[in-house]
Amino acid sequence: MSIKLNGSLSSDQLELFTSFVATLNPSQVAWISGYLAGLSAQGQGVSEVQSQSTAAVATEAVVSSGSGQPTLTILYGSRTGNGEGLAKKALKLATEQGIKATLKNMADYKTRDLQAEKNLLVIVSTHGEGVPPFSAKELHEFIYGKRAPKLDGVNYAVLGLGDSSYFHFCKTGKDFDEQLEKLGAKRLVARVACDVDFEAAADEWLKTTIPAFGGGEVIASAAPQFRLLANKTTKEETKPDTHTKKNPFLAPVYEKISLHGKGSKRQTLHIELSTEDAPGLDYQPGDAAGVYPLNSDELVSEVLAVTGLNAGDFVVFNEVEKKLETALHKNVELSKITIDVVNRYLETYPNEKLKELSENPDKFKEYLDGRDIVDLLQDYPAEVTAENLIKILRPLQPRYYSISSSPKACPGELHLTVGVVQYHNAGRHKKGTCSTFLSDLSVDDEKVPVFIESNPGFRLPENDETPIIMVGAGTGIAPYRAFVQHRDLADNKGKSWLFFGNRNFETEFLYQTEWQGFLKSGALTKMDVAFSRDGDKKLYVQDKLQENAAEVFQWLEEGAHVYICGDMKKMAGDVQHTLTKIVEKHGVLSKEKALEYVDNLQKEKRLQLDVY
Ligand SMILES: Cc1cc2nc3c(=O)[nH]c(=O)nc-3n(C[C@H](O)[C@H](O)[C@H](O)COP(=O)(O)OP(=O)(O)OC[C@H]3O[C@@H](n4cnc5c(N)ncnc54)[C@H](O)[C@@H]3O)c2cc1C
Ligand SMILES: Cc1cc2nc3c(=O)[nH]c(=O)nc-3n(C[C@H](O)[C@H](O)[C@H](O)COP(=O)(O)O)c2cc1C
Repeated sequence: MSIKLNGSLSSDQLELFTSFVATLNPSQVAWISGYLAGLSAQGQGVSEVQSQSTAAVATEAVVSSGSGQPTLTILYGSRTGNGEGLAKKALKLATEQGIKATLKNMADYKTRDLQAEKNLLVIVSTHGEGVPPFSAKELHEFIYGKRAPKLDGVNYAVLGLGDSSYFHFCKTGKDFDEQLEKLGAKRLVARVACDVDFEAAADEWLKTTIPAFGGGEVIASAAPQFRLLANKTTKEETKPDTHTKKNPFLAPVYEKISLHGKGSKRQTLHIELSTEDAPGLDYQPGDAAGVYPLNSDELVSEVLAVTGLNAGDFVVFNEVEKKLETALHKNVELSKITIDVVNRYLETYPNEKLKELSENPDKFKEYLDGRDIVDLLQDYPAEVTAENLIKILRPLQPRYYSISSSPKACPGELHLTVGVVQYHNAGRHKKGTCSTFLSDLSVDDEKVPVFIESNPGFRLPENDETPIIMVGAGTGIAPYRAFVQHRDLADNKGKSWLFFGNRNFETEFLYQTEWQGFLKSGALTKMDVAFSRDGDKKLYVQDKLQENAAEVFQWLEEGAHVYICGDMKKMAGDVQHTLTKIVEKHGVLSKEKALEYVDNLQKEKRLQLDVY
């Protein structure tokens, strides 16, 4: 290779340079030219860039030691930690590739910095019913707002996290992807939408995407990419030494008690599992337990009847051959159908009417709600083969339950509070898969596959003396039992106030005698209850908050942490609305300032939600 340089290098530098260049392949040459162009544009030398990145470590969450150019900002919006974990992986990958990368939580991101970004990797989950996690709310609003800047100079790519059993699958990722493009940013890599078993798809996408930021190359920017990991679960690790989602612990059942009184039409169970000596099953109050259920014999029989398939037919699931009946029991979702299931059904067995329905979002959503696979097979029949059926269905997912015990108070045990799901829909009586599995458990000889799902966003205050206000309806009481058990053992405990709601005082006052005990012992300072169906007028937890508005505000001003747990669809929103009203009146604030006050509570992690 002959190089002509115009005299700006010394002869030693020139010798070093030419021998170094001779070792490079074409893509390394391209990368280095980009890197040097970046330095030149900033008027810096390499040593300046390195010291700049070292200085940054002290001020923000920059963990990258990569000193190359261009820089990459990895921006994550996460609630339960999956996105945060991926963002850290992305940072490691970037660093390994010599890209100077910065990791930022959307919760702490200054929106005015957006325009100055050069390369932006967005990792964001979707929560509620298709809304951003709280940490991403402000940035999401900003990019859709009037003040959103032009982003002409920004290269970006988006990884969305979600769960395709929700109608608005990965909606927040989609929003970011589409809106950044509208603002003028250049999509380098097509968006990926990762489902519940996201690890493999996310890793693969990150491996392709990170290098694109190194070279600024566009890789398939045209169509957003939706990748559903249908029917493929991550393979089990060999001989793991700890119990995780991929390697659940088979927990013996100590106890199963009905928490409802006689005459109740519903059922809530208290279940105690033994986790004695199980590595990986350590938890903190506020964490949830993941439970892998089996589908009921009843539902499996219905599927076999409607398809006319034989229980003994062989199918392949996750590269393992097994009987159809076994796969239907253990491996695939039967009680819920989702958009991806219907799409795969349509691809395999075209049906005009079903296609029409799937193209009408409102009607389609209404149809999916409460329908199971038997409904689909009955309503839009086809000659389904066993092999295709298993390919069409999505893998059976664990269900999560807020742990209702404190590990300090109940060492070696894990307690759950499970509402048994039963309802009537489309002419059939239906039962929730996991709650039915747990309710049918035999205490003596069955075991529950369980793992811990950490919930860092729902934690007792670090200081035991900080007052807490706990608001929950129905099974939303579960984590508060853990909180109060935990506080009961603390030396100097602060005030605690529980607001609990359910339908009837007589039959649905969950853990009533325990709360009375805690009130006596002082672990619980106050308790207010709302039973919605006891009187002529419906009474809810938010009404009890309102009745006690002045004192609730006083607790807030004293620094109380507020928790909301249970129903996501209505209760959580109503309680937040009531809190805002309380702050507005008793803090003598405008509506906007009151909203800001409650928003700040959430930002400071003094208002925490565990809703589903
Ligand atoms: C972080 C977290 C914590 C949780 N904590 C708890 C807890 O402490 N206790 C608890 O009981 N649950 C808790 N849940 C909910 C729990 O995970 C399950 O979703 C619940 O037990 C139902 O699961 P299932 O398998 O029994 O029902 P599934 O088989 O999953 O069926 C549920 C589906 O049935 C449909 N459905 C239900 N009722 C109706 C109706 N009336 N009409 C039409 N369709 C209906 C809905 O489509 C729903 O998605 C929590 C969830 C999360 C995410
Ligand atoms: C209460 C709740 C609501 C959710 N709503 C949605 C949703 O509307 N759409 C979706 O795609 N995923 C939804 N999810 C799934 C999450 O996005 C998914 O679990 C993701 O991996 C979480 O990532 P994070 O831990 O980074 O927040 C929901 C999860 C929970 C617990």
